[in-house]
Amino acid sequence: MAVLELKQATIKFGGLVAVDSVDMEVKKGTIHALIGPNGAGKSTIFNLITGIYKPTSGSIFFEGNQVDGTPTYKLTSVGIARTFQNIRLFDDLTVLDNVKIGIHTRVKSGLLGAFTKMPSQQKEEKWIEEQVLEELDFMNLYEKRDELSKNLSYGEQRRLEIARALASNPKIILLDEPAAGMNPQEKVSLMQMINAIRERDVTVFLVEHDMKVVMGISDTVSVLDYGKKIAEGSPEEVKNNEDVIAAYLGADYLKTHMK
Ligand SMILES: Nc1ncnc2c1ncn2[C@@H]1O[C@H](COP(=O)(O)OP(=O)(O)OP(=O)(O)O)[C@@H](O)[C@H]1O
Ligand SMILES: [Mg+2]
Repeated sequence: MAVLELKQATIKFGGLVAVDSVDMEVKKGTIHALIGPNGAGKSTIFNLITGIYKPTSGSIFFEGNQVDGTPTYKLTSVGIARTFQNIRLFDDLTVLDNVKIGIHTRVKSGLLGAFTKMPSQQKEEKWIEEQVLEELDFMNLYEKRDELSKNLSYGEQRRLEIARALASNPKIILLDEPAAGMNPQEKVSLMQMINAIRERDVTVFLVEHDMKVVMGISDTVSVLDYGKKIAEGSPEEVKNNEDVIAAYLGADYLKTHMK
């Protein structure tokens, strides 16, 4: 079953067709990667799915409901969470508080309730804290909970963004270049964490340039070039596809990056 579906999704910026008539199905419970050269339109697809942009034409369905043009906060509350290519954390908040922000969509009294100390809300606050600590533990950041997020390493900040996204209890999580800036060891542990996210019944849709990561964890890979979907299939199918090889400027790139 498709948890997410794009039908002829298109967005134009002036004369540029950044996403061009893209059909795509992300199946429930899978790890689905979206790859393609710089400027291919990958992040723009995430921005369409999360309501930052409205498609010029075409539509997007989440669990069978048409959602294109829905405000981002509503999409978060129905189960779509994401991280950003350019990390967006509150630098001067602690790791713990950054994740608390991700949880407010799950709680009745909302964001303000999470930070005020009304007696009736104390139970709720304790529950929030427990959930947050669980997510931090899951992303291997428990020890860092009281640090300011600006003092974390780049890789830790990327993991913190994922923890925050998970705190909204999503059905699907969109990760935009989660491995960027990570060292090889961090990438290996990231791959384990992404597999563990899927084991929590969260569908994973990721944009990633690191082909070891993509080919190592994905069930399905879709390839975008100049806004168009040029290939889709298993990692094995995609890495042997001639259009994909051409889009990445020759077989050398693939030999080096798609082992
Ligand atoms: N708001 C915008 N206004 C104008 N052009 C835009 C806008 N957003 C994206 N674009 C353009 O759309 C194209 C696709 O950009 P996008 O950021 O989706 O690429 P990408 O595949 O994520 O690339 P990268 O791998 O470098 O992150 C680019 O040419 C970009 O300049
Ligand atoms: Mg991008």
